[in-house]
Amino acid sequence: MTEMQSGRSCLAIILAAGEGTRMKSARPKVLHEVAGRSMLGHVLAAVAQAGASRVVVVVGPDRADVAAEAATLLPSAEIVVQSERRGTAHAVLSARRALSDGHDDVLVAFADTPLVQAATFSSLRAALARGAAVAALGFEAKDPTGYGRFVMDGDALEAIVEHKDASESQRAITLCNAGLMALDGRHVLSVLEAIDSDNAQREFYLTDAVAVARAKKLSAAALTAPESEVQGINDRIQLAGVEAEFQRRKRLAVMAAGATLAAPETVFFSFDTQVGRDVLIEPNVVFGPGVAVADGAVIHAFSHLEGAEVGPGATVGPYGRLRPGAKLGMGAKVGNFVEIKAADIGAGAKVSHLTYIGDASIGADANIGAGTITCNYDGFAKAKTTIGAGAFVGSNSSLVAPVTIGERAYVGSGSVITKDVAPDSLAVARGRQVAKEGWATTFRAAAKARKDAAKKP
Ligand code: UD1
Ligand code: CA
Repeated sequence: MTEMQSGRSCLAIILAAGEGTRMKSARPKVLHEVAGRSMLGHVLAAVAQAGASRVVVVVGPDRADVAAEAATLLPSAEIVVQSERRGTAHAVLSARRALSDGHDDVLVAFADTPLVQAATFSSLRAALARGAAVAALGFEAKDPTGYGRFVMDGDALEAIVEHKDASESQRAITLCNAGLMALDGRHVLSVLEAIDSDNAQREFYLTDAVAVARAKKLSAAALTAPESEVQGINDRIQLAGVEAEFQRRKRLAVMAAGATLAAPETVFFSFDTQVGRDVLIEPNVVFGPGVAVADGAVIHAFSHLEGAEVGPGATVGPYGRLRPGAKLGMGAKVGNFVEIKAADIGAGAKVSHLTYIGDASIGADANIGAGTITCNYDGFAKAKTTIGAGAFVGSNSSLVAPVTIGERAYVGSGSVITKDVAPDSLAVARGRQVAKEGWATTFRAAAKARKDAAKKP
């Protein structure tokens, strides 16, 4: 639900002040990546898609790196520092300035819970539009230990009780708090300010917003999501679990949209991989960020693609490597053990075997022979190779850039091309072949005679 559809403005507050010690990492937890994008990036994207018009990220002290990531991904995001970790309600209140600006909806999200869908945030907002002052997200926990429990009053939420504060009978509840919440902007400050730290952990619990709202005769709603969607990340094992869940979902989405995955569990996507219809992806293919594969293309086994565009009906691999800036036209072919970087491969062009093409442009229907290398780097600068449409480069040629091979020109196999080649011409740049008739016979006879002489006593 966007702001325009609902007519309600929305402030999202993303809590990222955790220390993440269990990651055992020099990097802040929320900058670790799931499917090629930071956890924080996933959450920023979801709240934006759910219509948040203003986003505040709450970070711990000395977390310039987290602030920088937020600024890169969403330049309008505001950063506030929670200088002391005194609980989730305290963290939300560190965005007091934004809260007092009077937004209709306030969404609270955890930066270490990256799989929550925009639609789920939207459903929390929708509960506010229906009159709830607080809407919390729950899930049925396989193992509820450690989570806050939803204490229900019929269909309404009566309270959320943290595990450490829960009675024996409350601990038997399996409907647990995912942590995310939506609060009505008209009441949010008065509700949060009424929360105290009179509990087992001496913290200001956001979860107490429910009981406080009820005491003020406001209503609280409970929504639910699958446990897999609300899985938070504390350590590398949970990081791997969330990555696996992301991949599972993405594979299903790609197949549902009309692509064939021969062995889905062996294909790894990025958060932003675009795959068209009737695409075939063979086993063991890895997509880094920024790849789009158009309709009818084939990605053969063991290929690795990153920052690349694969045109309609084009083929890659097996063992193809497309690096950032690789752009394959319609029906182009990049074969086995071929690496392409920052290069356009024209429609119908073929680069079939054992080749490196970097910083280049290859025209339509050109044919690049096995073992061709564009020599694009002199240790200081990169230079460009331009190959015209219909050109034919013989096998094992080195093209020393900057250099241009004209349209329909031929380059003889084994050439080292250092000068431009005119269209429709032939360039050969290799040692001339010399023929010495009978040389091998004479050589062998002489060699044998020397060996026999050495053997005699
Ligand atoms: C919280 C919920 C609990 C829920 C669980 C789900 C509260 C009181 N409890 O518990 O009901 O079942 O999440 O995982 O909300 N944070 C700050 N500043 C703070 C404290 C926390 O920014 O002062 C951030 C953390 O970085 C984290 C999030 O808030 O992203 C949750 O905090 P955490 O301490 O992990 O809460 P839990 O005890 O897991
Ligand atoms: Ca937690």
